[in-house]
Amino acid sequence: MDINKYDPKFKLRRRDLLGLTDLTSEEIFELLYAAKAMKKKFRVRENSALLRGKTVALLFGSASTRTRVSFEMGIRQMSGDYLYLSKDETQLSRGESLKDTAAMLGRYGLSAVVLRSFTEAQTHEFASYSDIPVINGITEVSHPLQILSDLFTIWEVKGRLDNLKLAYIGDGNNIANSLIMGCSKVNMDVAIASPHGYSPARAVVERAMQYGDVLITDDVAEAVSGADVVYTDVFISMNEEDDAEKKRILSRYRVTEEVMRLAKPDAVFMHCMPVHRGEEVTAEVVDGPQSICYDQAENRLHLNKAALALLIRETI
Ligand code: CP
Ligand code: NVA
Repeated sequence: MDINKYDPKFKLRRRDLLGLTDLTSEEIFELLYAAKAMKKKFRVRENSALLRGKTVALLFGSASTRTRVSFEMGIRQMSGDYLYLSKDETQLSRGESLKDTAAMLGRYGLSAVVLRSFTEAQTHEFASYSDIPVINGITEVSHPLQILSDLFTIWEVKGRLDNLKLAYIGDGNNIANSLIMGCSKVNMDVAIASPHGYSPARAVVERAMQYGDVLITDDVAEAVSGADVVYTDVFISMNEEDDAEKKRILSRYRVTEEVMRLAKPDAVFMHCMPVHRGEEVTAEVVDGPQSICYDQAENRLHLNKAALALLIRETI
């Protein structure tokens, strides 16, 4: 389905936002159109009252710049309030169960909770015991808000999503998994180049292949050929120990100017950030004219606001 032919209703009939696997193409389009509307308001400095009287908990188990700041600022711009809870400072760090934490939080009048750096299984378990919306702010397997925001960025820059090709080069991690699922649901072709042993999750690839064209290869040139978007991410994710051998193996999967030349001449470069210049991408590329990383980072704000507006509104 083509996003430009879709007629948005600005409604999302679901309580939680846990992953792209559960979302239909229409639901993804709803979120992207809502992000577009949020960005338009932001540009003319117009705040909304959509979250007035509402408080969102940010229960984070790891460092964050973009996810945290975009939620905190987004909630303020929607006249709401937030409660930042470092997982280490809650009783979860001393063994209190997810069930007890999840079942209790809504009782204090919170309207939603964003979880960051719980495992995929814990995130789903938490949601099963929560009576308020639960939003996945990253797991070891997925990062749906990032990829929804990235699809919005691609739509904004290219004017369409239909039949574009995205090539992801590097570690088959949470970003790669969510890109595969997200791109395939909006009718984009996706190609992943990663070395043997670092491919994306097989279950994700098999599921995504039901929706669209997914190429998994160890050949960077094959993946990048004809790409409209070239994307990479860190070699070592937050949930992993530093691993010199993994970095050595992945070093052949660095995005360089030479790699960018294999893509379409008007291809853009994307990275969810944080960036390690000289590791997964060269400074020339990430700081060069094809890079749209800062647009990506900004759009986390608009997409998160869209997600909160659509999810919380449904629960009023
Ligand atoms: N891209 C992203 O999630 O950034 P942070 O880790 O800074 O939140
Ligand atoms: N793969 C990275 C993404 C950071 C936004 C990580 O999990 O650390």
